[in-house]
Amino acid sequence: MTRLLRDLPLPARRYGIIHHRTAIRHARRSSIIAVSRILLIMGGGIAAYKCLDLIRRLRERNHTVRVVMTKAAAEFITPLSVGALTNERVFTELFDLDDEREIGHIRLSREADVLVVAPATADLLAKMAHGLANDLASTVLLATDKPVLVAPAMNPKMWLHPATQRNMATLVADGVTVIGPGVGEMAERGEAGPGRLVEVPELVAAIEARLEASGSASIPAAGPLAGRHVLVTSGPTHEPIDPVRYIANRSSGKQGHAIAAAAASLGARVTLVSGPVAIPDPPGVFIARVETAADMLAAVTAALPADIAIFAAAVADWRVDDAATQKIKKTRGDGAPKLALVENTDILRHVATLKSGRPSLVIGFAAETHDIVAHAKAKLASKGADWIVANDVSHDSGIGGEGARGVPGSGAGRGVMGGDRNAVHLVSGTGIESWPEGSKAEIAQRLMVAAAAALDTRAGGR
Ligand SMILES: Cc1cc2nc3c(=O)[nH]c(=O)nc-3n(C[C@H](O)[C@H](O)[C@H](O)COP(=O)(O)O)c2cc1C
Repeated sequence: MTRLLRDLPLPARRYGIIHHRTAIRHARRSSIIAVSRILLIMGGGIAAYKCLDLIRRLRERNHTVRVVMTKAAAEFITPLSVGALTNERVFTELFDLDDEREIGHIRLSREADVLVVAPATADLLAKMAHGLANDLASTVLLATDKPVLVAPAMNPKMWLHPATQRNMATLVADGVTVIGPGVGEMAERGEAGPGRLVEVPELVAAIEARLEASGSASIPAAGPLAGRHVLVTSGPTHEPIDPVRYIANRSSGKQGHAIAAAAASLGARVTLVSGPVAIPDPPGVFIARVETAADMLAAVTAALPADIAIFAAAVADWRVDDAATQKIKKTRGDGAPKLALVENTDILRHVATLKSGRPSLVIGFAAETHDIVAHAKAKLASKGADWIVANDVSHDSGIGGEGARGVPGSGAGRGVMGGDRNAVHLVSGTGIESWPEGSKAEIAQRLMVAAAAALDTRAGGR
């Protein structure tokens, strides 16, 4: 290490090795392993192959990894290999209309806890330093408000070139964290010096240290659900009638989001598939945002396999058959349009009855306004779920106290739906437990602790 410091020019000493050593010290000192959403931006360097190992190591530690590859990166390794390891779609194109509608460069950058550029090519570093945004990778980097960590890798002459060193100085002044480069033999014969991508364990330690420093990852991976994948659905779905109108329901997503947060707090890797909601994202979970029941089914299917699946979303039972592609005009004398409804796929039943890849524990929610337990028991039998969490969503349930009793149409507190409190009955094959009223966070925590215990019993431990 002394040799590395001595061999490097002053700026490289400041930006590279010292950061890197501090990062490792931080990571070793910390007993907390953060569970985070990492956006890995891969540049087109010979060291790109090391990112395959990096992705594996990050996922082993329960991090979610999304990848943006530059065109040049895709010359070195295929998006197919990367996608297989991340179990996520790999993003390469800026001008992909579907992406812009579904996810877009802004969301890609915002839905991450940290952006990691590895290998950071001379070209990418130059673009970052100068604020260029002419491909997806550089646009995401310019659009982000999250911490950015770069791991440069290039030929020593490129690294030591005054232009690269100027760019590094700019990036450090901009708050970018730099890890490496290491010193040693290059891929090219006879070339040696500073420019090697740091080794993967060091990179993992630096990423976690950066997350810890930014405080964006405070979810301990230790806990009864460490190493488990929990899938949660939440919120309503919107079923279009035409481009401006839709059928929806009053679900706020508060209970489902609280469950996702509770699962993450117990150490799980969590995928939250959420319909349109107006509440904050729970920390430390990966969120797939959807609109319709069909979108939700697709996102749930893509997120499998999971150890536990909890279906808290209020999925529309029906959608409009053949929704209009243009706004339906109100014409005097024509009366109201006739809407034909067709049934949506029952996502809970679909997953609970999967022949292969069924999660070990499938939990459904029953939102009922009367005969709560009887309906929940019937639902348990008909859907093939392991547990049904039944709650009373009637306006006069009394849950949440007087203030929560809604006046229909007023938009004010509406009991369980939209409120902050709940009281549930847990219906399983072995009986019914009625839990006292509590905040949605308390109900979520109790549910996830019970689910973790049940999972261990079912699996006979790990
Ligand atoms: C075989 C080969 C290896 C390369 N290795 C590197 C490298 O390690 N680091 C680097 O900065 N550029 C390297 N380059 C050059 C980059 O691929 C080139 O600058 C490209 O435009 C980078 O694009 P990107 O930054 O968008 O990924 C290499 C090029 C080739 C053909």
